[in-house]
Amino acid sequence: MALLSLLSSKVSLSALAVGLSTFVSNTVAQTSFNCTEFFVPVSISAQTVELNLGSPHNQSELTSLVTRMTYLESTIVDEVTVGPSMVNATYNIWSQLCVPDGFEEDGVIEFTIHGGTENHTYFNFGKESPYNYAEAALKAGHAIFTYDGLGVGNSDKPDGIQEVQIGTETAVAIALVEKLPSLLSFGKVVGVGHAHGRYDN
Ligand SMILES: *[C@@H]1O[C@H](CO)[C@@H](O)[C@H](O)[C@H]1NC(C)=O
Ligand SMILES: *[C@@H]1O[C@H](CO)[C@@H](O)[C@H](O)[C@H]1NC(C)=O
Ligand SMILES: *[C@@H]1O[C@H](CO)[C@@H](O)[C@H](O)[C@H]1NC(C)=O
Ligand SMILES: *[C@@H]1O[C@H](CO)[C@@H](O)[C@H](O)[C@H]1NC(C)=O
Repeated sequence: MALLSLLSSKVSLSALAVGLSTFVSNTVAQTSFNCTEFFVPVSISAQTVELNLGSPHNQSELTSLVTRMTYLESTIVDEVTVGPSMVNATYNIWSQLCVPDGFEEDGVIEFTIHGGTENHTYFNFGKESPYNYAEAALKAGHAIFTYDGLGVGNSDKPDGIQEVQIGTETAVAIALVEKLPSLLSFGKVVGVGHAHGRYDN
């Protein structure tokens, strides 16, 4: 199933009972919105690909790997693919939820997925900057959820080659969307992805 179509489908209003307090570690009151930062533990089971590839030892090995991956007609994927594998794991994902004052139970929450080489700040940087996406969403009356992807920022950093793959990243995103109703009462989730964060499987 396409991730973004799943994310943009309506999510049930029920499961509100758990409440924010379980997850909240820090609350910052702003003039017109509140942001809370917390870790969400997500348990996932995901299809991965076993790769016959070790971590680069130094910068020149890394550069050479990226070159082998990106040149036209690269065959590295076929060369290193061993076969399908599976990851069952629980990860702690650093998350931030910002809610505008007066947010209604039928309101929109935006669920953001940043790109590769980025973290949650892609959507939320520079207070009152015209380029701050989160603040623009909040001004439009939407709640917004941002997070550091698996292996990024303050989130858990498992094996970057065997575990941090599109299958695991997608499973983490779906698990987080499923947690949203326990964090906030809302009417609809809209998925927002940038670059690598817009891929589905
Ligand atoms: C990088 O590591 C590889 C493998 O350990 C080694 O052969 C190579 O000489 C190293 N290159 C540099 C520039 O240190
Ligand atoms: C992972 O979980 C799946 C079911 O979700 C199970 O079939 C599989 O055996 C598990 N694999 C491992 C290595 O635990
Ligand atoms: C934000 O926090 C303030 C102070 O705790 C509270 O009065 C206000 O209702 C909160 N707003 C939202 C949208 O939760
Ligand atoms: C998030 O990304 C920004 C911009 O690249 C960087 O300055 C910051 O250190 C990163 N934060 C974390 C927690 O990795």
